[in-house]
Amino acid sequence: MDKLIIKGGARLKGEVEIAGSKNAVLPIMAASLLSEEESVIENVPSLWDVQTMVKLLRSLGAKAILDDNGVLKIKPGASLKPFAPYKLVKTMRASVCVLGPLLARLGEAEVSLPGGCAIGPRPIDLHLKGLEALGAEIEIDHGYVRTKTRKILRGTEIYLGGGYGSSVLATDNVMMAAALASGRTVIENAACEPEVVDLAKFLKKMGAKIEGEGSPRIEIEGVKKLRGVNYRVIPDRIEAGTYMFASAITNGDILIRKMEPGHLNAVIDKLQQAGVRVEKYKNAVRVKRTGRLRPVDVTTLPYPAFPTDIQAQAMALMTVTPGISIITEKIYPNRFMHVPELGRMGAKIFLEGPSAIVHGVKKLSGAPVMASDLRASAALVLAGLVATGETEVQRIYHLDRGYENLEFKLNMLGARIRREKE
Ligand code: EPU
Repeated sequence: MDKLIIKGGARLKGEVEIAGSKNAVLPIMAASLLSEEESVIENVPSLWDVQTMVKLLRSLGAKAILDDNGVLKIKPGASLKPFAPYKLVKTMRASVCVLGPLLARLGEAEVSLPGGCAIGPRPIDLHLKGLEALGAEIEIDHGYVRTKTRKILRGTEIYLGGGYGSSVLATDNVMMAAALASGRTVIENAACEPEVVDLAKFLKKMGAKIEGEGSPRIEIEGVKKLRGVNYRVIPDRIEAGTYMFASAITNGDILIRKMEPGHLNAVIDKLQQAGVRVEKYKNAVRVKRTGRLRPVDVTTLPYPAFPTDIQAQAMALMTVTPGISIITEKIYPNRFMHVPELGRMGAKIFLEGPSAIVHGVKKLSGAPVMASDLRASAALVLAGLVATGETEVQRIYHLDRGYENLEFKLNMLGARIRREKE
């Protein structure tokens, strides 16, 4: 296993390009199974999670080839296997996205239950509720979801809200299954995230009839067949947001290119409230620290509010912002694994239910820390960039799952990070 060793204190300056979105491409890869024909997906980020999905698609019987330029060709062909094993699903929850497409195409699917993860329990009851409403019979057996349908899936009205609001991947799964169902499906309380919109656009290009994506009500008129298409994935808003915080925390000046500023309005607003200058361009933002940081309160909520996937990075900034900031997590109330690790670097953070009360300190000091999930790992790297001395971020396979060339891109901006074997 690798670790990153970060020498703190460098001001980051320069330009960085954002890769394609992890959370958009994974469901889109699953959606390609809805057709027998080949789809060509561009702007595919080079990430372990993408490799895992490639393996999963191959294990289902599809041909999948990813080249060095981020072009992925997927040809599902006529005969797919309806089985997604635990071995692959346990390493990446997004594997559950194959459930809807397999069920719609083959009339059956057996997919391992993903289980919990470092950010807390992550049930899939909403996925199952939605597929059941479309006519699937569902059984949980020996850790697997077995679903089948006697006849073709039937469109219906489905309310997809849970205790924490809408669900991104449940909306994706139901939308994919409904694309090949007979009749009209209406998803109420659908997730509005840009990644859901990107999936809808991909499906529409394949020939699906979908309206309302990006709003809480999505309508899908089922069609008999979908075709293979060429599609370019949207930029990764979470990666872009992470570099925005990297600039802010290092007193930096970074132009973040090949991104969509409109996907990050809530993040830009918070940075501006914190005293950071953000200039918006068509496909770029420039983030520059001009003076003293101010404390801000952040609450994560579904899109278009502040994303849970940038909560940890925002907290890293608040640890060195004078005053008190309160960060409230409303999507995953236990997503605070980074708190004790930031504490090892000298941060003063108190947890109170789903809120973290952050007292800004003058400086963080480098220490060995352990990464627990993808975004927590990113927050530890950001903290390491400003800490005095060296910070050793261990177990960085999480970062490799979801950030393309993180230390390379940061080093190009002036950071001093090296990778070593643990
Ligand atoms: N939930 C349920 N039942 C369900 C599904 C979700 O109660 O059947 C709850 C979850 O436990 C959570 C809330 O609903 O409290 C929202 O979860 P959601 O289903 O939206 O999460 P997800 O679709 O499993 C995606 C991203 C996550 C991101 C969340 C929230 C992908 C592959 N993953 O997960 O990304 O945090 O949406 O925006 O798209 C990451 O990239 O680091 C990451 C964790």
